[in-house]
Amino acid sequence: MAFRTLDDADLKGRRALVRVDFNVPMADGQVTDDTRLRAALPTIEKIRKAGGKVVLLAHFDRPKGKRVPSMSLAPVVGPLAKLVGAPVAFADDCVGPDAAKVVDAMKDGDVVLLENLRFHAGEEANDPAFVAALAQNGDLYVNDAFSAAHRAHASTEGLAHALPAYAGESMRRELDALEAALGSPQRPVLGVVGGSKVSTKLELIHNLILKLDRLAIGGGMANTFLYAQGHDVAASYCEKDLADTARETMAFAAKNNCELLLPVDIVVAEKIEPGAAARVRDLGQLDEHERILDAGPKTVARLVAAMDASKTLIWNGPLGVFETPPFDAGTTAAARHAAALAKAGRLIAVAGGGDTVAALHHAGAAQDFTFVSTAGGAFLEWMEGKTLPGVAALDL
Ligand code: 3PG
Repeated sequence: MAFRTLDDADLKGRRALVRVDFNVPMADGQVTDDTRLRAALPTIEKIRKAGGKVVLLAHFDRPKGKRVPSMSLAPVVGPLAKLVGAPVAFADDCVGPDAAKVVDAMKDGDVVLLENLRFHAGEEANDPAFVAALAQNGDLYVNDAFSAAHRAHASTEGLAHALPAYAGESMRRELDALEAALGSPQRPVLGVVGGSKVSTKLELIHNLILKLDRLAIGGGMANTFLYAQGHDVAASYCEKDLADTARETMAFAAKNNCELLLPVDIVVAEKIEPGAAARVRDLGQLDEHERILDAGPKTVARLVAAMDASKTLIWNGPLGVFETPPFDAGTTAAARHAAALAKAGRLIAVAGGGDTVAALHHAGAAQDFTFVSTAGGAFLEWMEGKTLPGVAALDL
């Protein structure tokens, strides 16, 4: 796809309506993780440096078209101003006289954050009247919220048709990385998909099989495949009703020349407890009360060898219950290996999805990956091969 970037924009003295994703973790009215605020900084900086006015549009949580005081974006202002290194003004509404008053008072280089878009039903409905009301406060539109691009809302889709539209710096980086991983990747391409449920990732696995040379399946969802192969999974989490689907998936992979890497050994325990006694077992060799909680060493060694033999890696989902050591060992070892290869320039390693990012940080591997997406749902929908309305709307 082709889209305009900020390098193509005339920014001096102009009001840039910038859609960001400030749907950040918050506890007791305090931002607890500012990753998404940081992600917006390159765009904010670029517009300020060029003498433009930055009018930030964002949603927080799901207030469903009503003003819910606990879902105000006001708590974001302080941490954002600190990161920007300049004052950030706040408007109590994202449209109407309150917004206009604050925006009209802006000087070149100023930054304003408008209140939660989702306080208005028109946002999620992509209502043309609401789009027009938002557009009054901007001369151009910048979408820097890849992680909200799977929503066809007024601020993520509608505005792109109402004003000259540009991809922000984060959006551009994200689209470039995703293109490098799945669009036109350097081959061989390896995928790693983990997490507990196959049921939520069937479309994703299907799409990846069509695109990848190898696909490793880990986490709880691998149990369903092992069960479908006829192995006993004892007390493990397993979606037994999906055994037929798992067999169809294996056949589909064979037909499409995608080598599926399923576990060849497992780490088991009776309980998910920190420091629980973990045992390595061959497939099917579990006692009645044991559960599969991580990939075994042979499985990890085979995955690591597959990484060595690949040029591109795309990763979503942990290989085991990484939140509870020692069941983090498989994910951590594999993540560190991928990070080392990426750091050495031998692998393009791209990862995304909430749990995945947490697992990579836990392993101390995130900073060496080529790209780690801040998106959750949008990353999954993109991996499923779906068109993201917010991205499609930027296409020239
Ligand atoms: C996210 O946090 O993944 C995005 O901001 C989208 O939020 P939503 O699922 O409430 O639309």
